[in-house]
Amino acid sequence: MLEVRNLKINYGGIEAVRDISFDVPDAKIVTLVGANGAGKSSTLRSIIGLVKSSGGTVKWGKEVLNGKKTDEIVKNGITLVPEGRHVFPDQTVLENLKIGAYLRKDSLEEDLERVYKLFPRLKERSWQLAGTLSGGEQQMLAVGRALMANPSIIMMDEPSLGLAPIVVQDIFKIIKKVNKAGTTVLLVEQNANMALRIADYAYVIENGRVTMQGTGKELLSNEDVKRAYLGTSAG
Ligand SMILES: Nc1ncnc2c1ncn2[C@@H]1O[C@H](COP(=O)(O)OP(=O)(O)OP(=O)(O)O)[C@@H](O)[C@H]1O
Ligand SMILES: [Mg+2]
Repeated sequence: MLEVRNLKINYGGIEAVRDISFDVPDAKIVTLVGANGAGKSSTLRSIIGLVKSSGGTVKWGKEVLNGKKTDEIVKNGITLVPEGRHVFPDQTVLENLKIGAYLRKDSLEEDLERVYKLFPRLKERSWQLAGTLSGGEQQMLAVGRALMANPSIIMMDEPSLGLAPIVVQDIFKIIKKVNKAGTTVLLVEQNANMALRIADYAYVIENGRVTMQGTGKELLSNEDVKRAYLGTSAG
């Protein structure tokens, strides 16, 4: 279980995250939804040690993650698919996947088979340069690369951003599949509709604070959430 308590993040004088607490139980899908600038990416980046928090705690089981370096945190079984995909465009699909396993040298072939099973498209395209893949394929590669680290929990930052609706559906199917295979998922999305549909539990983040929480179903039918994030209010 990942446990975030009273997280605070400042950039210079700006309070990006004021007070964020949430839990991600093992084997579940938890989502953080919120508008631009709410503090979602900062939260994920701080969990994985890319941004220093100025208050609060992040616990992974009994382990306190605050202050640890990113590679140590990744070794603990936590990984991040960053916003904007960031595959290495001049490397092949296979090379990109191998980079994802750089912290470990064991069972590379096994992990590759596991990832290829989830993404047959990546197997077909293993020799293609990543920069020439379609946007959806690049997103699959970014997720596949993160899975090469054989994580217990995968954090994904806006995996559906900039993708056509049909590809978005594919990406969400893959997220479900990854979760069914036993990986815990922490998903950050502006596509609240899709995220709430697949989430076991969800938190709404506004201005660096959690303002609402509930099961995905509860928030999908919440009038405030509908008005602000789903654009489907009857009133
Ligand atoms: N490195 C940084 N330096 C200064 N300010 C930053 C930095 N990173 C983020 N911020 C600010 O912190 C706030 C929260 O940003 P963050 O990227 O966490 O939001 P977000 O919820 O992920 O937004 P989006 O949905 O647009 O990705 C924003 O006001 C942003 O400008
Ligand atoms: Mg963001």
